[in-house]
Amino acid sequence: MKVVLQNLTKIFPSRNKKTPEEQVVAVNDFTFEIPDGKLVGLLGPSGCGKSTTLYMICGLQKPTGGSIFFGEDDVTHLEPEHRGVGLVFQNYALYPHMTVKQNILFPLQNMKKELMKEVDERREAMAAEQLAAFNAANGIEDAAADAAKVPVEVAAAAENVAAEGITAENAAEVTVAKPPVFRPKLPARQKMLKELMLDRAYMAARLVQIDNLMDRKPSELSGGQQQRVAIARALVKMPRVLLLDEPLSNLDARLRLQTREEIRRIQRETGITTVFVTHDQEEAMSISDLIVVMKLGVVQQTGKPQDIYDNPANLFVAKFLGTPPINVFDGEVKNGALYVGEDCLMKLPGIADQPVHVGIRPEGFVLDKNGPLHMELVNVEVMGRDMSVISKNAAAQTPTVRSIIDSDLRSEIGGETVSFSIKPNKIFVFHKETEERLY
Ligand SMILES: Nc1ncnc2c1ncn2[C@@H]1O[C@H](COP(=O)(O)OP(=O)(O)OP(=O)(O)O)[C@@H](O)[C@H]1O
Ligand SMILES: [Mg+2]
Repeated sequence: MKVVLQNLTKIFPSRNKKTPEEQVVAVNDFTFEIPDGKLVGLLGPSGCGKSTTLYMICGLQKPTGGSIFFGEDDVTHLEPEHRGVGLVFQNYALYPHMTVKQNILFPLQNMKKELMKEVDERREAMAAEQLAAFNAANGIEDAAADAAKVPVEVAAAAENVAAEGITAENAAEVTVAKPPVFRPKLPARQKMLKELMLDRAYMAARLVQIDNLMDRKPSELSGGQQQRVAIARALVKMPRVLLLDEPLSNLDARLRLQTREEIRRIQRETGITTVFVTHDQEEAMSISDLIVVMKLGVVQQTGKPQDIYDNPANLFVAKFLGTPPINVFDGEVKNGALYVGEDCLMKLPGIADQPVHVGIRPEGFVLDKNGPLHMELVNVEVMGRDMSVISKNAAAQTPTVRSIIDSDLRSEIGGETVSFSIKPNKIFVFHKETEERLY
């Protein structure tokens, strides 16, 4: 199910009528198409409108403007319970007095009417099967064809009446073979409903691998297990769209990693179109097919994680993606060349002279005695395969600059300074005011 957001906007009015300007534009003109079966990461700092976007998709909040489509259906004004959406909240809450099984079954209690349809379909299928078996046992080859023959047989019988001398008086003696009667034996609807719900609950539990914990209470589970119960509870409705709002925020680092891989696996297995909200760029980059980067309610950039990393549209996006983060310097374009302080880093033809921000990814630095960028060496941290070279430059916008270098080159670093050349695809230039990308 593809999900289309069209000019989606949410404004929370000011609490105080005297200061209407204090309204919050939580989501501003958000347009995006989430392709069918994909996992989209919604990424941005706290307060940028991620949860609000999610709540509009599931219907818990009404947009101030714009529309939402599920496939071709306009669901903008549809009640949440009719949207077929599974939601795992930022602060997922399990019912503490219920077992895992009861927690997972809970959403199905509200869907009894819909599930009953499925029960009736199953009963019809069972009855049809039994009828076929009955017909076979009674030598009825094709019930429909047999029925069609009846009028012909009746007409023939009418002719026989005269021929065989049957009269009103002796008619009672004429015995007509009664056709065998078919009565299907079906389980009660309520019983089937219960079984169906349990089937669904166990299916969801198996997906998140907690089917062996069904009789425990939430207090008897680890944080990660509780989280998975919350996900199973969202999956049990077989949603058309799955919305996850920071589902890993309560987990420790190792469990976070494990659970995010799990979410990816579940998403792939079920093929449910999923939106995954996080403010952790690494999390978003690692599990998303596509990411949307937001800032103050405004979409900054959308695309494949690697494409956005390699081609950030502006300084905000460049800074937001990547660990360690991109290093930013005050720079200047002068006579078709790019300068940081006195160091001329590269030719930059076609860009007018102006002050700029210069971003260099940590992996973009290459140790080079004759390199153009001169730094004051602060420290070297060796971490197995790589090392972090920490250095200083008066033009850097942070106290220190971090570069990642192959640790085999450790012996090449010493003394008080270090020089680098820069990989051209790892350096970006941004407009000083608008912060839009120039190079
Ligand atoms: N009910 C509300 N009334 C007024 N303002 C609200 C309401 N809900 C959210 N906001 C504001 O809307 C903006 C976006 O909030 P939202 O919860 O969508 O952010 P978020 O990106 O999910 O942040 P976080 O990462 O902290 O969860 C914030 O400035 C927030 O204060
Ligand atoms: Mg939020």
